Amino acid sequence: MELVKTQTRRFFPLIALIVLGVGFYCIPTQADSDKDKPKEKPPVKGALYKPVVDIEVIMHKVDDIYAEIEENLEKKRLRTIKKDAAFLAEMMNITQHFQKEKAWKDFSVKSRDILLKMHQAASKKDQATTAKLYKEVDAVCEGCHDKYDV
Ligand code: HEC
Repeated sequence: MELVKTQTRRFFPLIALIVLGVGFYCIPTQADSDKDKPKEKPPVKGALYKPVVDIEVIMHKVDDIYAEIEENLEKKRLRTIKKDAAFLAEMMNITQHFQKEKAWKDFSVKSRDILLKMHQAASKKDQATTAKLYKEVDAVCEGCHDKYDV
């Protein structure tokens, strides 16, 4: 018993340091608590899928990849477009679960399906159809932004 007490006393400064260290680490910084933290979305009632980030996080990356597709169309890099269109299709498939409204779901599903067609056209190295579908999906992206005023 005496030995345990002595040991504890000897290690006390070390334990105190660890506790303090962990404590400071856990104190949220300004960036953590405010703008950098993704806003949580209320779950869609009865949904199996619950988003953990704001739609803006998805849109930001969707747009990066979308812009790359335009460049790759000019350079006729259909193998890259094939992969990018498939990935964007899945992003739009996920997007449909961020809001409950039918219009939201319709825009998401419509853009998803056009992107899937774009993936197929690019797989077949069909540049003309891929370019046509790129314009088609653009109208759906804009349609949703107009409807939700974003
Ligand atoms: C189902 C509706 C919907 C569809 C479809 C949609 N968007 Fe969006 N988009 C939004 C909403 C809502 C926002 C606003 C997000 C925010 O800032 O909170 C947004 C924002 C954006 C932004 C601004 C993001 C930023 O960094 O601030 C870009 C760029 C964008 N979308 C690109 C696209 C592209 C490209 C497509 C099509 C491939 C697309 N969106 C399809 C709903 C949609």
